[in-house]
Amino acid sequence: MDIHHALRSRRTHKTYAGGPISRAQLTDIIEAATWAPNHRFTEPWHFYVVHGADRLAAMDAEVQAALSAAAKDAGEAAARKLESKKRKMTGRLGATAAVIVVTWQRSPDDAALDREDYAATACAIQNLMLSAHGHGFVSLWSSSKMLCGPALRQFYGVSAEETIAGVVFLGTPTGELDGRRHKSVETVTSWV
Ligand SMILES: Cc1cc2nc3c(=O)[nH]c(=O)nc-3n(C[C@H](O)[C@H](O)[C@H](O)COP(=O)(O)O)c2cc1C
Repeated sequence: MDIHHALRSRRTHKTYAGGPISRAQLTDIIEAATWAPNHRFTEPWHFYVVHGADRLAAMDAEVQAALSAAAKDAGEAAARKLESKKRKMTGRLGATAAVIVVTWQRSPDDAALDREDYAATACAIQNLMLSAHGHGFVSLWSSSKMLCGPALRQFYGVSAEETIAGVVFLGTPTGELDGRRHKSVETVTSWV
């Protein structure tokens, strides 16, 4: 796929049609992610792959448990919202091809390096989503708190020294989606 087309046609999809993704495809997508620019070659990222119906069902069980725990302390309206989230997540995890949790290694004693490492990891996630697009998959970068809580971190195997930058869902599209941007290139550009 031509890069100019790929940049403009990649879309966030939140529902998927089901169907598999192979380990070889996932490996290629992650390898593409690692070509992101990173200052001082820290390569701060790590990719935790949840792949296969059994592992995705196990992730769903963890998510359901986390949401149930949150619902216990919530008011009636919030609990209703959490119930609808539970259904949504089960539907999503039942149809997604794989989930890739992307973390970066924190540098608590060096704020500038830590910021750069987060930026590099964000670039890696964009690479990952573009590579998935090239393979014919759609994606969703989620920063949802419920996917990053202690129980889910333990399920993924994320260490205390890492922070989750994104939980990326990959799947086959259920249809075409239009992109939208509200600001024109003229608005966001100053020619100095
Ligand atoms: C850092 C980051 C966090 C995001 N978190 C979420 C999220 O938690 N839930 C969600 O539905 N979309 C999330 N998105 C996806 C955006 O909503 C999406 O990129 C935006 O709607 C633009 O759509 P497009 O990617 O198709 O251009 C996130 C995107 C980024 C960059």
